[in-house]
Amino acid sequence: MPPETKEPKRTSIGLKIENFTKSYDSVEVLRNVSLDVQPGEIFVIMGPSGSGKSVLLKHVAGLEIPTNGRIMIDGKDIAHPKTRSQLHMALVFQAGALFNSMSVFDNLALFPREHRLYDKKVLNEKVMTALQTLSLEDAAGKFPSQLSGGMRKRVAIARALVMEPEWILYDEPTSELDPTMGATITEIIADLREEFGVTSLVVSHDRDLALTIADRVAILMHGDLLELDTPENIKKSENPKVKDFLNPVIDIKNPRFKRKD
Ligand SMILES: Nc1ncnc2c1ncn2[C@@H]1O[C@H](COP(=O)(O)OP(=O)(O)O)[C@@H](O)[C@H]1O
Ligand SMILES: [Mg+2]
Repeated sequence: MPPETKEPKRTSIGLKIENFTKSYDSVEVLRNVSLDVQPGEIFVIMGPSGSGKSVLLKHVAGLEIPTNGRIMIDGKDIAHPKTRSQLHMALVFQAGALFNSMSVFDNLALFPREHRLYDKKVLNEKVMTALQTLSLEDAAGKFPSQLSGGMRKRVAIARALVMEPEWILYDEPTSELDPTMGATITEIIADLREEFGVTSLVVSHDRDLALTIADRVAILMHGDLLELDTPENIKKSENPKVKDFLNPVIDIKNPRFKRKD
């Protein structure tokens, strides 16, 4: 049974993605991507829809196998079942992936119950602690359909916290939220790093999130890693595609859906 501590089990030496390529039915969706994420870092992968962000995250979570290249954690290949079983990694899905027929409490308790990880009292404490961390203790008995979009995202993050992960992977944590809710989730991601030292790999097209809380930002476009740098340097990028992505100029005389370039 894992020790009862709020501190993450810090054993990681980081994540290394090496020459990663992924094809589905001979269509390459990610090409030769290499990057590393340091323990304790908030690393944001930005890119437009369809650029391959979720595909990359699924591979980091070990849910799929690369076509070429490899993903290493602690110097071990993440595709190996033994490596995955030792990982303290949680994935927060874009849509939350909550069970609507279950209360918030039961959504958080489901995985540890199914795997018989804790006795009832310890599980209760862990679930309530995770809810309190996200100021959700009053929502324990509610059902997902009774919550706002922002609260559902917070529940999805709280569910990840129950397992006291060392790594949290977030897929579009602020999508479909209004700007204030988006800012709240952004603050939560930063706070979880401050409080628990969680290493955070975030994929998002949210410019505010990336440029305020990231230690480093990678820009992915159409399957290629275009740039990898600090937010300060990314903001100053001279790459026209990066500039257009971060600060799109609306030009009604020459609209981009009619442009040939
Ligand atoms: N299981 C799959 N089979 C075939 N194509 C896929 C699969 N998953 C994703 N793709 C394709 O890979 C590309 C990148 O998708 P995705 O990673 O979901 O983009 P996003 O950056 O919006 O998260 C898209 O063109 C998508 O259609
Ligand atoms: Mg996606």
